[in-house]
Amino acid sequence: MNAIPDAVLEVQELDVHFGGVQALRKLSFQVAPGKIVGVMGPNGAGKTTLFNLVTGVYRPSSGRILFGGRQLQGLSPARICRAGIGRTFQSGRPFANLTALENVLVGLHYGADARRLGAADAKRRGQEILEFVGLGKLGDRPVSSLNLTERKIVELARALATRPRILLLDEPLAGFNPLELEPAVRIVRRIRDELGITVMWIEHIMTVLMETCEHLIVLHHGEKLAEGSPGDVAADAAVGEAYFGKKGATGLG
Ligand SMILES: Nc1ncnc2c1ncn2[C@@H]1O[C@H](COP(=O)(O)OP(=O)(O)O)[C@@H](O)[C@H]1O
Ligand SMILES: [Mg+2]
Repeated sequence: MNAIPDAVLEVQELDVHFGGVQALRKLSFQVAPGKIVGVMGPNGAGKTTLFNLVTGVYRPSSGRILFGGRQLQGLSPARICRAGIGRTFQSGRPFANLTALENVLVGLHYGADARRLGAADAKRRGQEILEFVGLGKLGDRPVSSLNLTERKIVELARALATRPRILLLDEPLAGFNPLELEPAVRIVRRIRDELGITVMWIEHIMTVLMETCEHLIVLHHGEKLAEGSPGDVAADAAVGEAYFGKKGATGLG
């Protein structure tokens, strides 16, 4: 792939091991600004580990992570968030005892606007973010009273509230029923189209990634198996083999 001079995010030769398990091996890629980049790969491929490295939850064994050309190594997750990298969690980690709006306020006070917003402005901004994701009417509801879909959207709103330049989504649609997928995909598209936020998106529903992302990265056993446009990746024999255990194209595309 050609170098992207204005990459939002770049990882170079990233290695990480946990004891004997090498979770990522010499992983390198760049993320161009304004793109929705899908991250695919079977369970255990290293996708969540990648997000944990980028957000400072884990330290790499070796390699570099550059955000807007700046090295992130050694920064705390809080500093990395304030610098402009937002995320959601695969398992979903809302504050269940807080209301939906309070969850978003946590994001506002933790993120890039932390020192800028007074209480009234923060509340107004929080309500706007809930409306953006379609939960404007649920602000006063404790998150424990919401269904799984609503909770995951609250978590997305909380991540948005940190005012990221790049948003890392770890299986945001896991557990959604088929009817809930399309509205949620629309929210992700609007995050990029209307807010101009670059998105990296891990998801198991391949058709969703194929239809929504401009660029895909496929991980397998901690290594980059394929990278390119959805069409290129769907036609990649190695991807077909990793997913379906047979030689030939994926049948997707
Ligand atoms: N904190 C950790 N300690 C030990 N092993 C880990 C840790 N985090 C991830 N791993 C291992 O790294 C590999 C990749 O895991 P993960 O990134 O969660 O995969 P994915 O998100 O692609 O399903 C797995 O073998 C997993 O068990
Ligand atoms: Mg994962």
